[in-house]
Amino acid sequence: MFVEIFMGIVSLDEIKPGMTLATDMRTNQGRLLLQAGSKIQAEHLKIARIWGITQADITDDSAPTGPENPIERLDPELKKVLDALTDWKFACCDRESPFYRKLAFLFQKRIASTLTRKNSRKVVEKYRGPKILGDVKQSRGDESQKPHLEKLVDKEVSLVTLPDVFHEIVEVTGNPKSSSTDISNVLAKDQSLSSRILRLVNSPFYGLMSKVDTLSRAVTIVGTVEITNLAMGISITSTFNDVSSELVNMHDFWEHSLSVGVVAKILATQNKMPVQERLFVGGLLHDIGRLVLLKNYSRISGKMLAFATSRPVNLYDLETKYFGFSHSELGGRLLEQWKVPQALANMVKSHHSRSSIDDSGETILIRLADIISHGLGYGHSGARRVPPLDYNEWKNAGLSITALPVVAAQTENNLRDLMRIIVEDQAHAI
Ligand SMILES: [Fe+2]
Ligand SMILES: [Fe+2]
Repeated sequence: MFVEIFMGIVSLDEIKPGMTLATDMRTNQGRLLLQAGSKIQAEHLKIARIWGITQADITDDSAPTGPENPIERLDPELKKVLDALTDWKFACCDRESPFYRKLAFLFQKRIASTLTRKNSRKVVEKYRGPKILGDVKQSRGDESQKPHLEKLVDKEVSLVTLPDVFHEIVEVTGNPKSSSTDISNVLAKDQSLSSRILRLVNSPFYGLMSKVDTLSRAVTIVGTVEITNLAMGISITSTFNDVSSELVNMHDFWEHSLSVGVVAKILATQNKMPVQERLFVGGLLHDIGRLVLLKNYSRISGKMLAFATSRPVNLYDLETKYFGFSHSELGGRLLEQWKVPQALANMVKSHHSRSSIDDSGETILIRLADIISHGLGYGHSGARRVPPLDYNEWKNAGLSITALPVVAAQTENNLRDLMRIIVEDQAHAI
């Protein structure tokens, strides 16, 4: 049972003119919009919306309570359903810790408004998964073969055809003589890709001060390395969309992946880290190895997913025990073979291995973002429960629990738009 009250962080829709701002209101990029202590006016709310801000920290005496809280508005039967689902989802975590209490509250707050008597069974199934997972008949791989990491990587590399533009990007970025114009020229050859890059950098999530109309301008403003990372990430994303829907629906998979990228970038912004695009792409690709396992070992993967649904175990541990390697190692090796930047491959390779030698601050942010994304209930990559947190990692990353509602609101505000740009509108061209 999770009990929480609204603190100072309040959704913009619930803020009324005349309320007082408790802490500075800033854009995603850290630009100050309104100083702490200011009385909020209707005009401030309008500007905040333009900048994609979804909530603000207001002084407690003006925060809404009681009926404004969607969890408190639920009828008792539905509250029981929500509590049981939350207990199941957070069963691998230390639910007494302030971090998980806050995350569970944010999960409930997000789900409560969608829960009705009529749809409660469907909502629970959406988050827990269907019951048929243990009975997968079709598999694309030969499951009588003992799994072998390098053989699987080689097989995948030979089978998967990445778009031509991907290989050209690798070539042009590997050439020290290449200029930013060369990179723009390569990207411009793929109209769908360049369109999506432009829509992405012009989205409220990027919060750029002015509209970017051309690729060369995007390269200048966002940076050559960042744009090529984005281009590689989007190209790989569009290649992987053919895994059995019995095990994982591709929409859910990319919603999870993208939300990890979004959360990682938000955490990096809060920590003023300079590598935000790489983190965004790291999140987008972090579970790519899971897709390869689900595709080649569908039957055994289905049994593992069913086991992890019926018992509070971590799917990552089951998979490592059976295969002898994890989806993170597999994903990292694949990216290395495809010659994506090593820092990106390392992030993917180590995103579950705590205390690994590759554990840079970036890898830790991906791991934390993965936990937050699971906790907020955005899609899944097979595993549906919230992974356990090493609280020292959270603290050492310089993050505060009071940041969680802001992360949740910014993710909610941007994810739909980004899903459309990166995953759903693949054929869309400007
Ligand atoms: Fe993972
Ligand atoms: Fe994940």
